[in-house]
Amino acid sequence: MKVAFIDLSREYRALKEEIDNSVKEVFESGRFILGPKLEAFEKNFAKYIGVKHAIGVASGTDALLLALKALNLPNGCEVLTQSFTFISCADAIVKNGFKPIFFDIEVNSFNADVNDIKRRITDKTKAIIVNNMFGLPAEMDEILELAREKDLLVIEDASHAHGATYKGRKIGSFGDIACFSLYPAKILGAYGDAGIITTNDENIAELLRMYRNYGQRVKYYHDFIGFNSRLDEVQAAILDIKLKRLEEYISKRRAIAKIYREELASFVSFQEEKNYMRHIYSYFVISSERRDELKKYLDKSGIETIIHYPVPIHKQKAYEEFNTLRLPVTERAASMVLSLPMHPYMYDDEIAYVVDSIKGFFKNS
Ligand SMILES: Cc1ncc(COP(=O)(O)O)c(C=O)c1O
Repeated sequence: MKVAFIDLSREYRALKEEIDNSVKEVFESGRFILGPKLEAFEKNFAKYIGVKHAIGVASGTDALLLALKALNLPNGCEVLTQSFTFISCADAIVKNGFKPIFFDIEVNSFNADVNDIKRRITDKTKAIIVNNMFGLPAEMDEILELAREKDLLVIEDASHAHGATYKGRKIGSFGDIACFSLYPAKILGAYGDAGIITTNDENIAELLRMYRNYGQRVKYYHDFIGFNSRLDEVQAAILDIKLKRLEEYISKRRAIAKIYREELASFVSFQEEKNYMRHIYSYFVISSERRDELKKYLDKSGIETIIHYPVPIHKQKAYEEFNTLRLPVTERAASMVLSLPMHPYMYDDEIAYVVDSIKGFFKNS
């Protein structure tokens, strides 16, 4: 049997009629950029997250880049980010001319270790990017309290956490700004690149709408140098259809996660989901000392797995000047994590095959 990590064609077949009709409407309208489909999706997404504004952009990477622009931080300031995450968090800091300060993570969540953050704050630190790794919310109360105390702005990178909740509130509604990737493989994914930013601040929202559109409010009148970073009408049409199913997709993912957790608990470890958090399992991540061997065994068994992420940012070639930094929990996590197949269109026999194969690996070797 072959088990794909994610199967987007299965999803498309299930939604085909609705998607085809909505995309056809866009084609027939002749309106492809900043039109009614985007407006509708932004409104629905803001409502879903529980914020006043949502601004569609071209990718999650651009969301982070533009978010940091819109916060108007001073030149040369320091911005905190975890190193065990996707590269875009640090890239957005550097591309804005700020200095990334990498902090370590908690061993049980892969999210921010607030005590480690405290040790790294200086007079130059002005903001923090908070990740919610693999769909598990970070300890937002602790982080927000620290941010208030130290006068830091908070940018949530909610790219794994569409629909995740912390004490009943959606991730993406806590920070000054929150950024979501809508890359195809995300739990809410477009059929191409896309991203979205949420905020409750009217001024920030207005700035972001200008930044994504060449720094203009009125066509051909440019108040500052902006970007071309819009979420197009075709993607918005698709995303709006998928948004309506997000809660159903989360339930399905949580049901698969429950099986993985129950069946595999004696062999591998998992992220700890506290009772005031809703993990949405963008990725189902296990950790094991024998990760590399296990991955090879699953490859041979036809089960596709991915390592998110094999090299922490501070150890990347692109971040050479940080290579000597030591972040022990981060580095250990990178050597142990493995993401198992997880998507709402998985069949029961595929889930059972993944479980049996992992059990087989540990029992027979
Ligand atoms: C945590 C995180 N942040 C940012 C990004 C960047 O998003 P995109 O690929 O849409 O540019 C990703 C996704 O790939 C991500 O996983």
